[in-house]
This record gives sequence, structure tokens and C-alpha cells, in this order.
Amino acid sequence: MKRVVNFEENEDAGGIGWEFNNEHTIKHEVKKQKKNHEGKLNAKSNRLDKQDFTKKKKEMLAFRKQLPIYSGRDAIINSLKENDTIIVMGETGSGKTTQIPQFVVEAGLASKELGAVAITQPRRVAAVNLAKRVAEETMCRLGSKVGYTVRFDDTSSPQTIIKYLTDGMLLREILSDELLLRYKVVVLDEAHERTLRTDMLFGMIKKIQKIRQEKYNAGETDVQPLKIIIMSATLDAEKFSEFFNNAKILYVSGRLYPVDTMFTTEPQSDYLDASLVSIFQIHMNNPKGDILVFLPGQEAIESLAALVNEYASQLRPHQQALMACPLFAALPPSQQQKVFDPAPENTRKVILSTNIAETSITIPGIRYVIDCGLAKLRGFNPKIGVESLLLHPISKSSAWQRTGRAGREAAGVCYRLYTENTFRELEDDTVPEIRRCNLASAVLALKASGISNVLEFDYMDRPSRSSLIRALEELYALNAIDDTGELSDLGKKMAEFPLDPSFSKVLIQSKEYGCTLEVVAIISLLSVDTIFFTPSDKREQAAEARKKFLHPDGDHLTLLNVLKSYWEVKGDVEWCKENFINSRNMRIAMEVRNQLIRFCERIDMDTNASCGAETDQILKCFLTGFFQNTALLQPDGSYKSVTGGQLVKIHPASAMFGKRVEGLMYNELVFTTKHYVRGVSAIQSSWLPLAAPKYFNNVRKNEP
Ligand code: CDP
Ligand code: MG
Repeated sequence: MKRVVNFEENEDAGGIGWEFNNEHTIKHEVKKQKKNHEGKLNAKSNRLDKQDFTKKKKEMLAFRKQLPIYSGRDAIINSLKENDTIIVMGETGSGKTTQIPQFVVEAGLASKELGAVAITQPRRVAAVNLAKRVAEETMCRLGSKVGYTVRFDDTSSPQTIIKYLTDGMLLREILSDELLLRYKVVVLDEAHERTLRTDMLFGMIKKIQKIRQEKYNAGETDVQPLKIIIMSATLDAEKFSEFFNNAKILYVSGRLYPVDTMFTTEPQSDYLDASLVSIFQIHMNNPKGDILVFLPGQEAIESLAALVNEYASQLRPHQQALMACPLFAALPPSQQQKVFDPAPENTRKVILSTNIAETSITIPGIRYVIDCGLAKLRGFNPKIGVESLLLHPISKSSAWQRTGRAGREAAGVCYRLYTENTFRELEDDTVPEIRRCNLASAVLALKASGISNVLEFDYMDRPSRSSLIRALEELYALNAIDDTGELSDLGKKMAEFPLDPSFSKVLIQSKEYGCTLEVVAIISLLSVDTIFFTPSDKREQAAEARKKFLHPDGDHLTLLNVLKSYWEVKGDVEWCKENFINSRNMRIAMEVRNQLIRFCERIDMDTNASCGAETDQILKCFLTGFFQNTALLQPDGSYKSVTGGQLVKIHPASAMFGKRVEGLMYNELVFTTKHYVRGVSAIQSSWLPLAAPKYFNNVRKNEP
């Protein structure tokens, strides 16, 4: 049963009990500082006349100068002149990501002649957002001097000397520019997050730096030594320094106001409900300031946003209004902007965010943080090959990062939706992703960039041997590597696509199966969370609307049906609404499609090749990448996976739900409460040996 949210301005029976513990207050020396310009500067810039231009330039400079990092400008530049690698640690919001690249260029350490600065980000939203911000600060058009490159969107040019890009894109650039010669300085940002790709970059960049130095010493005039900057928000600097040959560490003195930390007196069983109640408790009882709520994912964020807005619409006219602003990686840029724009008059903003707002994005105006204490973490079991996306308690260091977000501009309060005892039991740090995910695409990328012995690669934290071997086996089964362990021609092509190895293979094989048109379309549609729209109060109508698209052979062809209709009505938004199709995600998928078409054209594939009514071709083609993701019907009506003999269930959202067919192919096997398969289609078992002759012959050989 839902608790009642009470709008009276006092604590009530429906509220949550809080306790304050002095021991857990962040206490920092607070520096006196100039008035904050952020709100004003965040407003969208229109065309400026000359006077405005000069005025804005002045304002920008004044803003930059008051950032904590500005006083460390000379120290950073001098250290970078004297050292090949430096580590910069500093509180979130101190100016590392936006300022250091500008310092480097201003000091002449990077230029069109010497090479550009690349700054990696684990998330695409952050890369895009930061590039926009820095373009604004340097008063240049985005895509000229300052640009960004993220998967499926390249807004940079040969003129770009400050380039923000996702860590995945930098890995990709290594494939075509082995020594990253277009860059003079590489900044690996958010190093503390220890994403799989950042971890791979650590080892690769270190090697590139060494080779470039050797070439330079040998008198190769077209090779400049590479400078590396590692930036991180938490205090494990020594570990980074050790890995990079005892690199110099610079600390940016942070600016943080005291934050009181509150714990719930009782454990909370429903974090959404608890967040909702806390938001209104704060809204009714606390003075001005926006609220930042940390939630585990898009789904939670969207449902809480709807609830907050619904309750907020019942606020009385004399009360301050409340406005929910979601923030997650897949959110389109126009809506992200809402998070940064100042709230309308007499309105409090509630920003509902994933851990994206923990360190990589700074949002002005926050005084209150609500931390649900959970995050969605990717996990992988190398024995059975199951990826899991499970709710996990966050680590203590994450909890402190979240807390710190409340004290950037003034003293604040952090409400933790868990008890103090729970907090004490949290792990100190989050386990690096490389230790807990499927490594197939990482191993493919390592191999493609010339690292043939992936078992001996210079890892900062070595993944387990079994997960590396599993990844090699998977790539071998896909024919991406040959008997000697070297990358095959197919493997080299696969590494070029910004997709998981299985999907890259399907795309490349579509040429053989004559269905590139369909395969590109389906992969694009699979790249977004879902193209269906299922509001919680209209589930039945949504299911009914979906029926007309259902294809008897499953999800892949169902997606194709939706797309055909979508094209017929030329993407009409009203049509989407009536048919419960998520028009926003459709638009994103179509952008992805354009990008994929461009990749295909680069390797001379005919993207108009269509199999027409012979839709089996499409499924057979998908099977060349997903033959390991298959399950066969058992006499008792259940499905068992072909590899591993795992009992699997069809996800209720699938077109195949409740159906009995000879065999299934699926894109994902996810463990949430059960082993669910998603993206499911019907197949015939006789197709399997044709899709992967080598693999199924071996399997048969191994059978007793
Ligand atoms: O990297 P770090 O967390 O140290 O800070 P940053 O991302 O360089 O941001 C420095 C400051 O720039 C923030 O405190 C914000 O005030 C401002 N900023 C902004 O107004 N808009 C952005 N899109 C990014 C940063
Ligand atoms: Mg940063």
C-alpha cells in the first residue's frame, strides 16, 4: 500500500523518521567566494552582437577565474611541461574537466601543429554536455575548435583541438590511428569510475606513450611525445600514480560547504515510495534549494517523475511549485538542458538522476540530496555466460560523492534512504567493471589494436583468467579469431563497428544473407531501451495496440513491422501516440540507423539489399551472431539453453511470451529474478549447424 503524501507543513504520520549523526557530517573549510554566475551563464546563447560578445566574454572569464582550479593553473601547466604524465585529483565541480584542456591549449602545450587534446568520458551525455559548455566558454561554434565524438554522433572537425569523447570512441580511434598521433595530450577523466573501457585505455595509452617516446628519441620527427593526464574525483591517486610509473599527483583544493547527513531510522523496503515521501517532506519543511535524487535507472526515474508531477499538481496555489527533471544517459539533449536551466519563478526543481550526476555532471542550485543507496550494476558470470543487471548497494565512496553534491554552493543536507548500520556495511569502493563483465568486445578491441596476448596485457586490475578465456572462446566461435589466436579478416571488420561482437558479425553476414536493409533496421531498433510505450495506467490498451504489429516468429520481425508502419506514416508523432510507440526512442533509433548505414557503406555493403518476404533469411542471419544464445523446447514445455543447459524463461514483454516453438534465439539472457531471455525469435534447430558449422561440429565431437 502506498503511503499518503501529506502536504501540511509539518512532519506527519506518513513521513519517514530521520536521525542525524554528527560523525557523518562533511565538514570542510569554506572559502569565501564571489557570487556564482552559473545560472546566468547556463542560459542558452542566442546570436550576439559585438557589444554583447565582449560582455559575455568578460563574464565567462570572470566565471572561469572563480573556479577552485584556476589558482592551480600555473602549477598544473608547469607540472605538465616537466612530466609526461600527471594525476589530478579534485572535488567534483572544481573545474577539472572544463578548464584543464583550456589551460593546456592556452599554454601552447597542444595546438593544430603539435596535436589536439582528447578528453575521455565514460558517458556520452557528459561528453556532449561538456563540449557544449567549453565551446560556450571559449566563444566558438561547437564542432570547430571545441567538439565531441560519441557513438553515432561526431561533432568534431579537423579544426578541433579540444575534443571530448567517450572512452569507447578513443579505443575505436586507436584502430585507425595506432599511436593516436592526432593528439598531443590525452586526458583520461573520471578515472575513479573504473569503467571497462577506461581500464583498457590505461594500459593502451601507457604503451602508446612509451612507443612514441622511443620513436621521438630515435629522431622520428613526425612523432611527438604524448602527455597523459589522469583525472579523478576520489582519493585513490596513489594507485593511478603507481600504475603510471609513479606519476606526479596534484591535488586541487576543493570547495565544499558542510553537508549534514541524515539516515532513516528504519530500513525502507520501497525506495521509490521512500524517495517520493522524502521529496515532499523536504519541499514542505525546508527552505529554498533544488533537490537531487539518486536512483538506479531510467525506469525508476520515469515512474518517480510521473508521481512527483502528479502530486505536485495538487499543491495549493500559495505553496511553492515543484517540478521533476529526469536525467539519465539516454535522455535527448533538449530535455537534458532542463536540468541545467534555472527553475521558473517560485518553483523548486527535483532532479531525478542515475549516478551520472555523481561526478561527471555538475548541476547548479542543489541543496538537498536524496540517496536511495542503490545502483544498477552490470555483472557477468563467466561460467554460464549470463550477464546480469542487478540492483546493488552502492559503495561508501559513491555514497560520499552523492552526499557532496548537496554542498557545492552552500551548506546542504543529504538524506540517505537507509540506516546508519546499512551504511557501515557497504563496501569501501565499487569493484572495477573489468572484474565483473563480459570481456568479448574488450578482447576484440585489444586484439584489433595490436595487443595479441591479452592474458599478459598490462591491466591495472587484472580480470580473472577464466573470464578472459571465455571471451577468447566466444570470439573463436564467432570466427573473429582463428586457430592461432590471431584476429581473422572477419574479426578485423567486426572491430570497426561500434557494436557488440555478435551484432557486428550479424551485420557483416547480412551481405551473404541478402538482408542488410532489414538487419540494419532491427539492430537500430534494438539499440534503444524499447520502442514501445507502456504507461502504467494504460497497460491493457498498450498491449492491445501492440497486437497489430506482432509477428508470429517473434521480436525481431515484430520490430520490423513497427518500423514499416512508422515509415508509412513518415514518423508521425500522433500516430506513435495512438499506437503506444515511443516516438522519442524511434527517433533515436533512426539516428543510429543512419550511422550504421554510413559504417556499412565504408566497407562497401549495399544497405538497400532486402530479402523481401523471405524473412527466414533475417533470422538465419541473426543466428550467425547469436547461435550461442539459443534454447530448445523440452518435452515438459520448458526451454533449455543449447550451451550450458540453463532453464530459461521468455520475458513477458516479448512477442514470443507463452509460445511453444521448436527453438528460440535471443539477444540477451538476463538474470533479474529468473533467467529471462529478451529479444526472442523462433528458429528451427536444423538452422544451427549452418549458422556456425565450426562451433556445432565441435560441440557434437565433445558429446559422449
Ligand atoms: O570536472 P569537475 O567536476 O572538476 O568540474 P567541471 O565539470 O569542469 O565544472 C566546473 C564548473 O563549470 C561547474 O562547477 C559548473 O559550475 C560549471 N559548468 C556549467 O555551468 N555547465 C556545464 N555544462 C559544465 C560545467
Ligand atoms: Mg569532471
